[in-house]
Amino acid sequence: MKKITIIGTGYVGLVTGAGLADFGNEVICADILESKVNQLKKGEIPFFEPGLKELIDRNVNENRLSFTAEIEKSVQLSEVIFIAVGTPELSSGQADLSHVIKVSKLIGENLNFYKVICTKSTVPIGTGKKICKTINENIKSVVDFDYVSNPEFLREGSSVKDFLWPDRVVIGAEETKAFEILKEVYRPLYVNKTPIMHTNIETSEMIKYASNAFLALKISYINEIANLCDKVGADVHQVATAMGKDGRISSKFLHPGPGYGGSCFPKDTKALVNIAKENGLNFKTIEAAIIANENQKIVMFKKLKKLLQNQISGKSIGILGLSFKPNTDDIRESSSLKMISFLIREGAIVKSYDPVVSNQIKNIYPDLNCCSSLEECVADTDAIVIMTDWNVFRSMDLKKVFKIMKKPVILDTRNILSTHELNNIGFKHDNVGRKSII
Ligand SMILES: NC(=O)c1ccc[n+]([C@@H]2O[C@H](COP(=O)([O-])OP(=O)(O)OC[C@H]3O[C@@H](n4cnc5c(N)ncnc54)[C@H](O)[C@@H]3O)[C@@H](O)[C@H]2O)c1
Repeated sequence: MKKITIIGTGYVGLVTGAGLADFGNEVICADILESKVNQLKKGEIPFFEPGLKELIDRNVNENRLSFTAEIEKSVQLSEVIFIAVGTPELSSGQADLSHVIKVSKLIGENLNFYKVICTKSTVPIGTGKKICKTINENIKSVVDFDYVSNPEFLREGSSVKDFLWPDRVVIGAEETKAFEILKEVYRPLYVNKTPIMHTNIETSEMIKYASNAFLALKISYINEIANLCDKVGADVHQVATAMGKDGRISSKFLHPGPGYGGSCFPKDTKALVNIAKENGLNFKTIEAAIIANENQKIVMFKKLKKLLQNQISGKSIGILGLSFKPNTDDIRESSSLKMISFLIREGAIVKSYDPVVSNQIKNIYPDLNCCSSLEECVADTDAIVIMTDWNVFRSMDLKKVFKIMKKPVILDTRNILSTHELNNIGFKHDNVGRKSII
């Protein structure tokens, strides 16, 4: 088992650290944010992720997992260093590599014996070479290292399960020694016959972008099919179910909605388009997926406008769900934010409710009325909009909702409510691709 340091304890770094500790490794999770590290030392988890606290507590109690803000020291102590810092989107659409390069410099400066440097962050193809160059430029003594690309495929909301039971592990490594060390890091998976793919570094970097962009493409595709279903009177769920039965297509990611969001798909699709441009290519399918995704948010707003007979100004609207998907508190690029922006711009009085998101939203909309219960958010509204498919919205008491709303109008952008029930109770409603306006 290996001594490992993970730099960056966000959604990916913290789950990776806890997961690798659970595999039996000795792991230090390091972060530049001292406040975050102090929280973790006290047993608090800085974000909402089901099952993560239990995984962390177990491994801290068994002395395999610790937290530090002393990044230099943590690099010196370990044999394998994972880079898991953020790679957000620049205004150009390219990935911002400044955190990755800063960390690479620090690793170079603190390289005191042979180490494997491994990138978990999603980085453009060719970044591995830049990281190696930066490390080499900053090494102070004669010491060797190998570089590995090991992209992460976990999904927020189910990341613990995804990390502990992945579909595959991709290891981009030029040196057999480094590949064998990484295989050892993932030993329980290797023993359990999880597919472990050994590729070169560029292939590994490409696999991550190709996978995310394909899933985004699939979402945009089914959203456009849903919009067409709206026009021609077809039911997108039946269409998607029948499509999904075809093994060549698969049923995953064929659920229509208000457009994809989150910290990955929006930035990774744009980064891939840019990588293609830098290589003299136009990535037309992904460009189209990005445009379709932006359009989907407008389509949702237009549906709401239509339900309200084009009268948005002065209307009280309840937004149900702020996170980009259920079981996470991540609001990065959430479609909810776009809906709230449209509504505020047109003069609506907006309130919101989300089971786990509260404070973060105040940084973006300080005046937003964030309700502490579903009832409070629904009461006296002219319309409610379901933006995130949390189970609590799926199972809400629609008869009660009908009674406490000012006007019974619902836009269900996640298709989680029964159109029959909505019709029977007497709601005016709409959804994505299931003919139902009454
Ligand atoms: N979030 C996901 O679902 C997901 C899934 C797969 C891959 N990824 C990729 O993983 C990477 C990390 O994503 P995330 O969502 O965990 O990001 P995040 O923003 O949640 O976490 C990044 C962490 O890095 C820390 N950090 C930044 N600069 C640092 C530095 N110089 N030294 C030490 N720590 C530093 C930050 O304080 C933060 O805690 C990104 O490249 C992302 O694209 C994310």
